[in-house]
Amino acid sequence: KVVAVIMVGGPTKGTRFRPLSFNTPKPLIPLAGQPMIHHPISACKKISNLAQIFLIGFYEEREFALYVSSISNELKIPVRYLKEDKPHGSAGALYYFRDRIMEEKPSHVFLLNCDVCCSFPLQSILDAHRSYGGVGTMLVIKVSAEAASQFGELIADPDTKELLHYTEKPETFVSDLINCGVYVFTSDIFKAIEGVYSQIRDTSSNYQSATRSAPAHFVRLDQDILSPLAGKKQLYTYENKDFWEQIKTPAQSLKCSALYLSQSRQTSPHLLASGDGTNKKPMIVGDVYIHPSVKLHPTAKIGPNVSISANVRVGPGVRLISCIILDDVEIKDNAAVINSIIGWKSSIGRWSRVQASGDYNDRLGITILGEAVTVEDEVTVIGSIVLQNKTLNVSVQDDIIL
Ligand code: GDD
Repeated sequence: KVVAVIMVGGPTKGTRFRPLSFNTPKPLIPLAGQPMIHHPISACKKISNLAQIFLIGFYEEREFALYVSSISNELKIPVRYLKEDKPHGSAGALYYFRDRIMEEKPSHVFLLNCDVCCSFPLQSILDAHRSYGGVGTMLVIKVSAEAASQFGELIADPDTKELLHYTEKPETFVSDLINCGVYVFTSDIFKAIEGVYSQIRDTSSNYQSATRSAPAHFVRLDQDILSPLAGKKQLYTYENKDFWEQIKTPAQSLKCSALYLSQSRQTSPHLLASGDGTNKKPMIVGDVYIHPSVKLHPTAKIGPNVSISANVRVGPGVRLISCIILDDVEIKDNAAVINSIIGWKSSIGRWSRVQASGDYNDRLGITILGEAVTVEDEVTVIGSIVLQNKTLNVSVQDDIIL
């Protein structure tokens, strides 16, 4: 038997996702029509002998209750949310719930960050791990040397794949091979974390504050476990050859939505919309997800990279390109939405335009409307972030509307 643990973090971590994270925990924000966390969960479902999936975080339990019960029913796999009383760090959180995780005596525990987007080749990681031995195997990927410093950088033996050296977000370049935040461990990982806790207990508080910046209950997987275990024939790497992105900002989530849509094109094309503007169906361009409850006018033109959630109404002549439209939004006649995320229950007026600013890239510049924002008729919103419940009756550009 194996189990999977997904680290979902908590409200203090979601600040870069404002205003979308005000009422919805970041892991539940939809990408390609499904909550962010649905993508790793459905990848877990494909592991043979998977007994349970645990989500560990410090959000309130009620925030995950509905999702956890519906996904458990849908996948027919128990999915449980375990709430920490306070953040314990990624390794500390795993250790805190060790008895629950090990209840059914699994041979292996998968550990996944919730905020990464990839095809999660979990079975291949497990198979590789079984051939390497040791405590754990981590998914790694090559990125550009400039990008590498935002991640854990590592050196692996090219032949044995052993993790030889690990540094978390180093200031000077170490390697273009980085940590993807996806791991499989044996139960010995708990001994390694226990070892860190006993070191913390054994050393004087002076030593503790000189060498560790974190509080005593807080143990990070990367700095506190991976770095010291590297080079000891305990940890191994499995290189990801498929797509991988981190999801720290709404702009990155737009890019990840596109990646998941294009994955659907390969694995489950029936989930994607089609139409050529005839037979009362609108023109669909490229990869588009449309929830079955959506009401679309046949003269709208939609795609590529568009995902439209439940109960959205799209009027005549509307143009949607590269955007995420959340539940209950109304987009009125001849409006255009491009490179933007439109929050729940918002309304876009006739002939209005919501789009990214000219220097849009995957970090900056997209427009995000919070929940229940009203953009009145003939208003242009460019590269702006608009907080919930605002009404815009004049055009704005590169602005934050509080
Ligand atoms: N439950 C819980 N409790 N979850 C936590 C906690 C905690 O105290 N702290 C972080 N997490 C969750 C976050 O929600 C996220 O899913 C994951 O653990 C990792 O978050 P961070 O520890 O903030 O690290 P990071 O995302 O900046 O970087 C890590 O992931 C990168 C890959 O995405 C590092 O491991 C990097 O080396 C790695 O490249």
